[in-house]
Amino acid sequence: MQDDIDRVIISEAALAARVARLAQEIAVHYQNNAEPMVIVTILSGALVFVADLIRRLPIRMRLGLIGVSSYPGSTRESRGARIKAHLDPDVALRGQHVLIVDDILDSGNTLRLVQQMISAGQPKSLRTAVLLRKPNKAPADVSVDYVGFDIADEFVVGYGLDYDGQYRNLPHIAVLKPEHYASGSADPRTEAVSSS
Ligand code: IMP
Ligand code: MG
Repeated sequence: MQDDIDRVIISEAALAARVARLAQEIAVHYQNNAEPMVIVTILSGALVFVADLIRRLPIRMRLGLIGVSSYPGSTRESRGARIKAHLDPDVALRGQHVLIVDDILDSGNTLRLVQQMISAGQPKSLRTAVLLRKPNKAPADVSVDYVGFDIADEFVVGYGLDYDGQYRNLPHIAVLKPEHYASGSADPRTEAVSSS
């Protein structure tokens, strides 16, 4: 698996340091709330990030999970997202302080869908944290409050992010050698329906 990597973009140490800082920022914002916060994680891409993040957050919380799949399109605008696994109804949102956690903000389709869905549950507050952000301007209706790293517009894997379902277990963020992305596709995101 290591042989498939072209280069590492963000090292394991850099990820750990940045996640610790993000957790501090988040803790400062939520620590004085009487109610436990609710962290809603978008599967599967954010699972490694959230596992590290919550262990750095020494505050009361409840966890919810939501599964989203992205579907392809020939343009960034025509791609979309749909909910594949709904939040457990036992995870109450109404009147709660909710933080959505996702792996990466690209077109914003995934986060728009999840933010709209969570907002409909009438939380007291709603914020969003992403590990990575690509330079493409997400539409104005999709905003994020915490960003780990701004990266270039290239397809990355590792630390939860996949290509064709693989590479999520890499401890760093990396770019694969071109031959490992299906040939003829400049952007693997246009190839097939994928699970976030
Ligand atoms: P969106 O375009 O903002 O909806 O991005 C949606 C999802 O596409 C993210 O949550 C990821 O699961 C996936 N994605 C976008 N860019 C990448 C990438 O570079 N590597 C792996 N997954 C990606
Ligand atoms: Mg995702």
